[in-house]
Amino acid sequence: MEIRPTTDEDFEVFVATVHTAFGQFPETPVGDGGRWWSALEMDRGLLAVAPEGKPVGTAAAYSFDLTLPGGALVPVAGVTAVGVLPSHRRRGVLSAMMRHQLADVRERGGFLSVLLASEARIYGRFGYGPATSTARLTVERHKAQWAAARGTAVEDGAGSVEVLRRDGCGEILEAVYDRYRRAQPGALSRPHRWWDLGAGQPPVARTPRYVAVHRDADGTPDGYASYSTESGTLTVDETIAVDDAAFTALARYVLGHDLVTKVVFRHLPAEHPLRWQLDDPRAGEVGGVTDWLWVRLLDVPRALTARGWFADGELVLDVDDPFLGEHGRYLLTVRDGRAECVPTDRRPDLSLDVRDLGSVYLGGTRPSTLVRAGHIRAHDPAAAARADALFGSDVAPHCLHWF
Ligand SMILES: CC(C)(COP(=O)(O)OP(=O)(O)OC[C@H]1O[C@@H](n2cnc3c(N)ncnc32)[C@H](O)[C@@H]1OP(=O)(O)O)[C@@H](O)C(=O)NCCC(=O)NCCS
Repeated sequence: MEIRPTTDEDFEVFVATVHTAFGQFPETPVGDGGRWWSALEMDRGLLAVAPEGKPVGTAAAYSFDLTLPGGALVPVAGVTAVGVLPSHRRRGVLSAMMRHQLADVRERGGFLSVLLASEARIYGRFGYGPATSTARLTVERHKAQWAAARGTAVEDGAGSVEVLRRDGCGEILEAVYDRYRRAQPGALSRPHRWWDLGAGQPPVARTPRYVAVHRDADGTPDGYASYSTESGTLTVDETIAVDDAAFTALARYVLGHDLVTKVVFRHLPAEHPLRWQLDDPRAGEVGGVTDWLWVRLLDVPRALTARGWFADGELVLDVDDPFLGEHGRYLLTVRDGRAECVPTDRRPDLSLDVRDLGSVYLGGTRPSTLVRAGHIRAHDPAAAARADALFGSDVAPHCLHWF
């Protein structure tokens, strides 16, 4: 089995092979929907080719920036289009492609790789850990009276909402999304190319969408909600807002939509203030909680020193990377929001697999949860609590970009 990099000339065969792996046909976009594969970077693709010359496996990567706790933006490989033909499964094709791809990310100077997993059992063995989660909030409109604000009113009501068609507001969406993602740990950039090609029109979908755009009192767009309605249900694919006031105004807009009995907000964090803003907190039901962004560290000291930290302290981490056959013990020292991470021989506080480090890296999973699950080993009883305090993020990580 040969694993070879792709070029632009492989585009058609690549797209055909990955669709066959998923048992699908490349769809023809309807209305203003984009094609998900139009933004593939063919200089970052891989094809697995069987001895007789037939392509049997695909993998690719996008060049994204990931926002870390504390606001640093770092380049990551966004792994995508992973598939092996049903006729060639379970013979190590994916494993060979993963090995090739991780080496390639390192060669390009990268230290983090991320992906969305079609099935949760595939990627742990390659060193990826689930790092963020996403949920759906379903609100029965007849129960959705707004609670009187206690304390400070989130919204001043001075902004405005305009409803547009998705194909008529690409530049607005791009600018709003960019402001949002820079301040949201766990969020990924959507390169300009995505918007240009329609691949970034939220979401990549075959059906047309309306977009409610919120503008602040000065007329600057600061939020949008892309939505469609069917059979009395209004589904919001993504609500992007640079602050809580813009989010609240957009939520009021969709919850005020006529001829709708139910509003489904997709891709919210499970703990979102919206439920608390309703007079009946049970009017909103959280469902469909699932993992979203998976993170893989390829250079532990670089990754740990890149993010911001919110508590001082020290921790010795013994990190095993069985897929790459690597192992390292590091002293992590945090002072005034910044970390140093150096090799050490000191006795470890925690022993963990690199996939578990991926899960706790953005602050979305507490190390103590993985200690209790038996994945991370704490060598003294206080170490887990110390790790929780260190790894926490000021803003909970969240990602809703689909790729
Ligand atoms: C998932 C997929 C790429 C795996 O490819 P593959 O070439 O069969 O994988 P490998 O043979 O390298 O498998 C490596 C290991 O992972 C395990 N594995 C692979 N896919 C798995 C799955 N879906 N569930 C559980 N285990 C899986 C294999 O059993 C094997 O384990 P072992 O080393 O203990 O024997 C392939 O089944 C596929 O294309 N599925 C449909 C498309 C898809 O879901 N792609 C992933 C998109 S995120």
